[in-house]
Amino acid sequence: MSLRFATSRSVPASTGLVAVAVFSDGDRPDGVDEAELTARGFEGTTGQVQIVAGASGTPVALVGLGATDEFEVDSLRRIGAALARAARRTPHLASMVLDGLPEGHDAAAAAQAFGEGLILGAYEYTELKSDPTKAELIKVTHLGGGGKTITRALERAKAIADAVCFARDLVNEPGGSLTAPKLAQVAGRMGRKAGLKVSIMDEKAIAKAGLGGILGVNRGSTLPPRLVKLTYEPEAKARGTLALVGKGITFDAGGLSIKTGTGMMTMKCDMGGAAAVLGAMQAIAAVKPAARVVAYTPLTDNMLGGDATRPGDVLTIRNGKTVEVLNTDAEGRLVLADALSLASETEPDAIVDLATLTGACMVALGPRMAGLMGNDDDWIAQVRSAADNAGERVWPLPLPDDYRKMLDSNVADLKNIGGPHAGALTAGLFLREFVGEGLRWAHLDIAGPAFGDAVVGEVPKGGSGFGVRLLVELAENFTP
Ligand code: BES
Ligand code: MN
Ligand code: ZN
Repeated sequence: MSLRFATSRSVPASTGLVAVAVFSDGDRPDGVDEAELTARGFEGTTGQVQIVAGASGTPVALVGLGATDEFEVDSLRRIGAALARAARRTPHLASMVLDGLPEGHDAAAAAQAFGEGLILGAYEYTELKSDPTKAELIKVTHLGGGGKTITRALERAKAIADAVCFARDLVNEPGGSLTAPKLAQVAGRMGRKAGLKVSIMDEKAIAKAGLGGILGVNRGSTLPPRLVKLTYEPEAKARGTLALVGKGITFDAGGLSIKTGTGMMTMKCDMGGAAAVLGAMQAIAAVKPAARVVAYTPLTDNMLGGDATRPGDVLTIRNGKTVEVLNTDAEGRLVLADALSLASETEPDAIVDLATLTGACMVALGPRMAGLMGNDDDWIAQVRSAADNAGERVWPLPLPDDYRKMLDSNVADLKNIGGPHAGALTAGLFLREFVGEGLRWAHLDIAGPAFGDAVVGEVPKGGSGFGVRLLVELAENFTP
């Protein structure tokens, strides 16, 4: 359940907890015993929350914002998340945090980051627990000024953070439950409800369209593949067209090049790219950017049924290029090849794809940032600054032209694996082959950040929804 936001000048009667900002180098609220705080280890560092008895009878949550002159608006996301976790037993929280910020910060950006943090921190996946101890927090009232600016920023925060939670739910649902047909159904339902144009290709349409990569990966499965296309059309004449592509492997067993048992444990997350794109489309329908946005998500699992694609088999992708499959576990690039080819046919002004593509990217950058590659420096810079603005971490990686020969095949146009080195880059170089001539394209390898193994700031364990925020930001600032 998501949170509702309200604003008020005075503490509503139903409030069970009042949050106030505290700086590590600032004053403590009146009536708070400094010695007691010290004993409990509360210093007001960023993200610390301590609940104490309040003078009026209502408990008070002291929310640490760190040192006054080091404060950054961005930190409000993890601060909001920490507060939501501390307040999980309180149905109605009132917050004065935004009124206690140092001067000189963008009030709308602060409210948005804080609001996102509250919803993202309150998130839990309890669907499959028989007796969940669900959080009781359902409402947060902003106390103080700011008027329309704050109200609008909190509305935006809600639209975006709810979409991140939608993406998290999709990633957290097990692969045997959220199959390709079901994910397509859920995506279609979301799209229609949000007012997007929805078109779903089933296995027949996919075969007819010559999407050989998707068919090849799907061949080991007893379940059919899908390709979901969602279109957001702005009310006024569109300021360009942005295409989003998301890898949607609902479970990656590796195919005949089977993974280890441990390697498979988190592979329900292999549709994290599709989840991010679908979440972003939900939010985009709400925030209404000026650009047209078209999303493509190729969906299938990667299994090893009796007629699965064999190493050595050659697939023909939508754009006519042939691929020798030497490792069936390098399946993401095969389904993305079709989707990128398809997206290219309508000649969008720019394309960005998100994919849990390579373990090598995690080796390079660790679990909490995405690798960013592409074929156009300006477009890569736009993606990078969208990520920075949204508080999601990405880092650029190169696509060296001379590495392309690592993908040369003896029998086909290219093979689907490179050598032992630079796995994230050869994956990126592979994808580049399927982007239409002259089109701007960027690729985000989200293998690390799509799925968390610990609670870090606003990111929970399991599906993170990584990419939703940066895509919304990218769509809103899009310049063709
Ligand atoms: N889905 C995996 C990549 C992955 C690994 C995502 C860990 C999240 C966490 C992808 O399909 C894969 O198996 N990639 C192979 C490519 C290799 C065979 C060239 C890999 O990274 O080992
Ligand atoms: Mn794989
Ligand atoms: Zn995969």
